Amino acid sequence: NTNGLKAGKTRNIIEKIEEAGKNCIIFYGSQTGTAEDYASRLAKEGKSRFGLETMVADLEDYDYDNLDQLPEDKVIFFVLATYGEGEPTDNAVDFYEFITGEDVSFSESADPPLGTLKYVTFGLGNNTYEHYNSMVRNVDKALTKLGAHRIGDAGEGDDGAGTMEEDFLAWKEPMWAALAKKMGLEEREAQYEPIFGIVEREGLTKDSHEVYLGEPNKMHLEGSARGPFNAHNPYIAPIVESKEIFNVKDRNCLHMEVDISGSNLSYQTGDHIAIWPTNAGLEVDYFLDILGLAEKRDTVISVKALEPTAKVPFPTPTTFDAIVRYHMEICAPISRQFVSTLAAFAPDESSKAEMTKLGQDKDYFHEKVSKYHYNLAGLLRRVSGGQKWNNVPFSALIEGLTKLQPRYYSISSSSAVQPKKISITAVVESQLIPGREDPFTGVATNYLLALKEKQNGEPNPKPYGLKYEICGPRNKYDGIHVPVHVRHSNFKLPSDPSKPIIMIGPGTGVAPFRGFVQERAKQAEDGETVGKTILFFGCRKRSEDFMYESEWEERKKALGDAFEMPIAFSRDGPKKVYVQHLLKERSKEINELLEKKAYVYVCGDAANMAREVNTVLAQIVSEQRGIPEAKAEEIVKNMRASNQYQEDVWS
Ligand code: FAD
Ligand code: 2AM
Repeated sequence: NTNGLKAGKTRNIIEKIEEAGKNCIIFYGSQTGTAEDYASRLAKEGKSRFGLETMVADLEDYDYDNLDQLPEDKVIFFVLATYGEGEPTDNAVDFYEFITGEDVSFSESADPPLGTLKYVTFGLGNNTYEHYNSMVRNVDKALTKLGAHRIGDAGEGDDGAGTMEEDFLAWKEPMWAALAKKMGLEEREAQYEPIFGIVEREGLTKDSHEVYLGEPNKMHLEGSARGPFNAHNPYIAPIVESKEIFNVKDRNCLHMEVDISGSNLSYQTGDHIAIWPTNAGLEVDYFLDILGLAEKRDTVISVKALEPTAKVPFPTPTTFDAIVRYHMEICAPISRQFVSTLAAFAPDESSKAEMTKLGQDKDYFHEKVSKYHYNLAGLLRRVSGGQKWNNVPFSALIEGLTKLQPRYYSISSSSAVQPKKISITAVVESQLIPGREDPFTGVATNYLLALKEKQNGEPNPKPYGLKYEICGPRNKYDGIHVPVHVRHSNFKLPSDPSKPIIMIGPGTGVAPFRGFVQERAKQAEDGETVGKTILFFGCRKRSEDFMYESEWEERKKALGDAFEMPIAFSRDGPKKVYVQHLLKERSKEINELLEKKAYVYVCGDAANMAREVNTVLAQIVSEQRGIPEAKAEEIVKNMRASNQYQEDVWS
């Protein structure tokens, strides 16, 4: 494994901690940055409250077969997210396979192998998925089996219930107490110590060629971006088409096509594309303004890690503006812990008192902040009445805010039909929240909307004036490009097209099925025998959000009777009709198809729809086959295990 192996860097974790003088390693397995964030927060707290010499480490940067050599006065934390169907995150795959492997072996063959290892675990999961927090549970089990000793409870945060942050806060206090006792640590008054140093670069301006203005790496800066394009190196893809596919005033759904022919990127039907967004210009302005950085926005700075094991999460030299615009998740929910940290830098006593209260009181925080989806700038502005927060060290912002994350979309085209053009189907995130003056808007989808408006020369219709720097890095891509990479998934059509398939995808859940049906239509046109192809779709009203209406007719011409599309219009009639109701109506046929080993695919909302569909399928099997529900549930479970039942769901 050479992932993350950078010139001159060791993969030997023992060597690394000896060299850096550390006694606490905080490993993270992170997909969207949250686990990495929690790891950094634990590292910081361990150091400031308990004097631990902490370091945060990416699981993919090290080998693990010498964990048995960790000296007894050290401790390891594992902060591990579970991804999708109970899978490890990309950066934790190797570790997971190693530690849970049948034939795991370590460099010194003591018995038990990890008898001297002390560890702490926290998992990030989503209870709407079948394998809730399975990553951390399995790692914990494996470590215990290998003789290692866990300190404190095995923490679990639940994104599905929306309690991740609170679960984390509630878990960590008793964990620290247990760790302090075990390691004989003494708690002290926490003092903020910056992890990053900011140096102004006199002589450089934002026009200097070596200054990063959003370019993700050196190749992009030098205008010689080349592949492989991946999660560390996006391809700046031309948008070749971008249009609205809803027919209703207050909601938007975009169909977008990006051209990947200029890159090494490839995809398969059912894969995901990641979009690297840019923050809205207006939000960047609010942020820089309230933090007293507006006048310095174009000042060129270098950022240096003051800790040997800390990583600056963006390339420098750069400007405050570019960091905030391209690299910081400035609109995301704010952690109460971060609010407590910022209290120390409040511009006056009353703001300080308010921040302290918000940091301590979960219900108060909900009432004042979470309920309205306020972001950091919005919160600071409200707390201080607009007074600037000039004293907040910029390092605290880098530490306290997540790196701006790419957003994933289920590719809605077929690679057999258009191998070099990827299409996306995205509903634009915008919510009216009672008591909040402007609508809450999602980052990536509104960025895509602005790109579409720019490309089509449309006026930006938003009364709240979304202003975007939509030109991508260094503005040389002129507004009709978007940074992307492709993530391969296991959500795949059967290789034999004659196999029947049942697809269930209401709303944007239809995205991958547009690709599936495109592919089956092509196979039919090419003279292949195509099996039954049923797509259960659902939307509110035929006249408003029936996506791709005319395209389905075209596919029907190619596929004939093999293709059927039952549709649940939930708001056209007197009663709500959902996809699962239509499934139920066709119980007999569905059961027969399942008995013929039809593949079942579910895509879209993980929280309710996917779960209810699962339940209904089990009911159908039970009723039609005259077997107890428990047995039917077992059958459905086995269908999942054998990939006959596949999900591509998100919340
Ligand atoms: P964000 O800014 O990320 O906001 C998203 C949500 O986070 C908000 O609705 C809100 O609930 C919460 N939030 C954000 N900020 C705050 C705040 N300050 N306070 C409180 N809450 C906040 N979407 C599609 O439309 N089509 C697809 O095909 C599709 N496929 C997907 C496939 C996968 C595998 C995954 C994981 C997701 C998929 N999604 C898809 C969802 C998509 O990735 C994005 O999550 C979605 O488009 C919203 O992104 P955004 O940046 O616009 O919103
Ligand atoms: P509703 O918004 O009218 O309740 C796409 O979002 C479609 O999925 C809409 O028609 C929506 O209906 C419907 N939907 C909402 N909740 C659902 C659920 N739990 N199961 C299936 N469909 C659902």
